[in-house]
Amino acid sequence: MGGEESPLVAARGPETGSGPGPEGSGPDDLPDGLMVAGRDARVVVFNAAAARITGIPAGSALGRDFRDVLPLHDAEGRDWWKCLAPYDGLSTRTRHPERVLFLPGGTEVLVTAAYRRDADRRVERFTVCLRDALHRARQERDRADLVSTVAHELRSPLTSVKGFTATLLAKWHRFNDDQKRVMLETVNADADRVTRLITELLDVSRIEAGRLEMRRQVVDLPEEVRKVIAGRVAAGEPEDRFRFETRGELPEMWLDPDKMDQILGNLVENAVRHGAGTVTIVVEPDAHKEGAAVSVRDEGEGIPPEAAQRVFRQFWRGPGGSRRGGTGLGLYIVKGLVEAHGGVITVRRAPGGGAEFRFTVPAGAPNYAG
Ligand SMILES: Nc1ncnc2c1ncn2[C@@H]1O[C@H](COP(=O)(O)OP(=O)(O)O)[C@@H](O)[C@H]1O
Ligand SMILES: [Mg+2]
Repeated sequence: MGGEESPLVAARGPETGSGPGPEGSGPDDLPDGLMVAGRDARVVVFNAAAARITGIPAGSALGRDFRDVLPLHDAEGRDWWKCLAPYDGLSTRTRHPERVLFLPGGTEVLVTAAYRRDADRRVERFTVCLRDALHRARQERDRADLVSTVAHELRSPLTSVKGFTATLLAKWHRFNDDQKRVMLETVNADADRVTRLITELLDVSRIEAGRLEMRRQVVDLPEEVRKVIAGRVAAGEPEDRFRFETRGELPEMWLDPDKMDQILGNLVENAVRHGAGTVTIVVEPDAHKEGAAVSVRDEGEGIPPEAAQRVFRQFWRGPGGSRRGGTGLGLYIVKGLVEAHGGVITVRRAPGGGAEFRFTVPAGAPNYAG
């Protein structure tokens, strides 16, 4: 390594093969590329992701002037460092927002930069963060997929609403009351479906933006489960379809009751709709007795092990899922709500076949954020 300045963080690039130290994470664990230059503009940190993104081994970057290591230019071919003049530009600058720049080979990267200055406002450290633009492109594609899925999901019920109302308006006298009733019931159900889809999409967007507001209070979890079951029974499900068990003593649970209802309601609804047989719900303290574990299992076909991860994704529906009128958002939302409580959710095959969803949530505290 040709540098006079000894690197603060040694070149733990992929070629050195050394993983993170015993204390845990180092710059090589960062998913984004990180380059740090010192007072003299020489590179002192060049992490594994930076090496991967730029194709420059850390060993050959350390100790050199960062402008030589990373000759970035903008879409018009201008040398970015000349435009920026990081070390002699305005001394009030603290950071540069993300922008798209290019490496010599034409590789697109997303770049942000930040300064640390000493008491005289001279640059002490200049940090550059590099992100793979491909990753961004993929995110944008996922977003576009989501938009087209949503559009499709909204269009099918609306097509049916439009079709039935148009038919009724044009040929009102040709139908008898029973036929009209059937059509109106379909319109009604489709309108409900659109409303539900939009409500769920709003939940999804809150989860994705990390804007779920937690209103924690002491919640009697077994009581919440009883309420959810009572709701299903009131809606016409036979009472003996449900079995409810509580085991052991729960700690005082500080949870968001509305979100808990949503979690339990979704899992029980899935067990009833997608599963079969008796739906068994068990509430117990978790293994460390610092929270609660809830499992909901049924005696249906279950979830094939290869789909166990996919069920929690947006719009994932198993065979027959769309026929049953679902949106495929339920479990994605459930997972988001469980995680907002600091919990985890998993699915496995129940001992007697069928699906078993199990989540744990820590007991929480009045202002517990996680
Ligand atoms: N208890 C269950 N048994 C079998 N399959 C299930 C169960 N719960 C969920 N699934 C499958 O997972 C898919 C996604 O569930 P979910 O996200 O709640 O969407 P939705 O219920 O709207 O279809 C369902 O379409 C179904 O195929
Ligand atoms: Mg569902």
